[in-house]
Amino acid sequence: MCGIVGYTGKQQATPILLDGLSRLEYRGYDSSGIAVGSGNGIEVVKAKGRLAELYKRTGDRPEGTVGIGHTRWATHGAPDDANAHPHYSQDRTFAVVHNGIIENYLELRAFLSERGFTFLSETDTEIVPMLLEYYYNGNMLETIIKTRNKLKGSYALGILHAGDGGAFYALRKDSPLVIGLGEGENFIASDMPAVLTHTRRFIIPDEKEIAVITPNGVTVYNRNQEEIEKEIFVSDMSAADAEKDGFAHFMLKEIYEQPGAVKKTIHDRITPDGIRLDRVRLNGAEIDKVCIAACGSAYHAGEVGKYFIEKYARLPVETDLASEFRYRDPILSKNCLTVIVSQSGETADSLAALREAKRRGSRVLAIVNVVDSSIAREADDVLYTRAGPEIAVATTKGYTTQLAVLYLLGLQLAKDRGTVSDREYDALLGALKTLPEQLNRFIDDVNAQAQYLAGKYYPASDAYFIGRGCDWSAALEGALKLKEISYIHAEAYAAGELKHGTISLIEKNSLVLGIATQNDLREKTLSNIKEVRSRGAAVIGISDNPASIAAECDDVIALPETHAALTPVFTAAALQLFAYYVAAARGGDIDKPRNLAKSVTVE
Ligand code: AGP
Repeated sequence: MCGIVGYTGKQQATPILLDGLSRLEYRGYDSSGIAVGSGNGIEVVKAKGRLAELYKRTGDRPEGTVGIGHTRWATHGAPDDANAHPHYSQDRTFAVVHNGIIENYLELRAFLSERGFTFLSETDTEIVPMLLEYYYNGNMLETIIKTRNKLKGSYALGILHAGDGGAFYALRKDSPLVIGLGEGENFIASDMPAVLTHTRRFIIPDEKEIAVITPNGVTVYNRNQEEIEKEIFVSDMSAADAEKDGFAHFMLKEIYEQPGAVKKTIHDRITPDGIRLDRVRLNGAEIDKVCIAACGSAYHAGEVGKYFIEKYARLPVETDLASEFRYRDPILSKNCLTVIVSQSGETADSLAALREAKRRGSRVLAIVNVVDSSIAREADDVLYTRAGPEIAVATTKGYTTQLAVLYLLGLQLAKDRGTVSDREYDALLGALKTLPEQLNRFIDDVNAQAQYLAGKYYPASDAYFIGRGCDWSAALEGALKLKEISYIHAEAYAAGELKHGTISLIEKNSLVLGIATQNDLREKTLSNIKEVRSRGAAVIGISDNPASIAAECDDVIALPETHAALTPVFTAAALQLFAYYVAAARGGDIDKPRNLAKSVTVE
């Protein structure tokens, strides 16, 4: 989704803004632009397409030491120069960048049109600089408050006003924004990695607070216009965390980072006395239902969690796509634990699901990667996944660390409820402890095979991922990985469901990936593999017992021996690598696939 940067200090703003925007590219965008202030007013430069286009247009200009920049992911209006941000006010004394959606923009556009304002874009954003111009009375704080009070929807805004020297302004509601604190210079950004080369000290503004940012300080005002003290957050991320480190793509780097990320996620949470879930207030014995709501891969992690929690904690688990959750009138109570899973912690639908769950009296536990993100802050409890910054749009370590936390959570619930035997509990904990090392070896081993299989199957036009139980959940994630980066049409089906319709699509050389890791379901899945193979499909089998399915498959990926419940972690790693090499063979933009955004901050 859209990315925002802002700078004020002694240096030229343009190169700093462009560098910040390049670090936000991963969020997904289709145009970009900057606005720089100087004694001559505000100059805006913007361009459709990749940042390289903006670089061409800027050269060394505009000159000035204060500015704001933006990468736009089109929602209202086509991705073109006119709709790219920043947007000027009519008299060009204001320039604004925006992430989010102003829901009442049509009403406000009519209001402003009646008062003589003419719009140059189709965006919802352009009403903001126009409103600022309309309300301007010489006092910027009052002007911003009047404008803010008119806006409905979500926004992170960076505002530049001509004649205000080195000052610029920022505020947010339901969209992410951080303020970076430097020495004699200060920044804003949609997320921390954009400015980590300059600072690791951040202020995170709360909803509707207004920040006035100058080279020498940041002043934050609350909703009542009172100046407030904000806590300074020191990030433990380094700029190097957001570099490729010699890997061809962030996605490959992040696949390889998984063992370390999983280790960091679990190591101090498994103690000699059992599981310790940070400061989470959890009593499994008092919970009568778990609801998991999330989007995309995080939802797929929730699906794996459902099988695990139901099996070991004997609690009913409902899983919802967060975008559906709040509209289905869910039945929640104080004994229901709602779990929101999100790598970014900013996904608009997941945040809305969280608020809905709280509104209905449910306790909310968030499983989140980005520290202090909106979901982390609004949940009653948080378990961080400690994956470190994930830059590639296709999540890898974000997903597997979510699985690790869901396993810990499920086991703790099982222990609280007395539904797991000591033997099983110890076996699972033991398997979890060895998981990072096993995963490390597995990724090293399977990499070459994934490359070979990608070379063989990359021309496929469709792929079907099938499995039963948690293998079906793993299939959902495998199919998403393949389709989002290779653009091959890919679907996941519960293996037993294929013959109820989808099998009619299977023909000679259709690609099927059959996952069979669960002893009690293996024979059933094998029958389904036979059904597609007898209709001409090419089958890649995935199993921890490869011999048991080899005869029915064209190729087999052998998973290591582990506890049956943990196989989705290994399946994920194998399918991530397969998707990565298929996409590489087809020549896609692996880290920034078309149309996608890393952090989906609009509904
Ligand atoms: C998966 O590769 C995607 N990037 C996407 O499905 C993602 O998992 C989803 O948008 C949820 O994001 P979140 O974890 O940041 O909430």
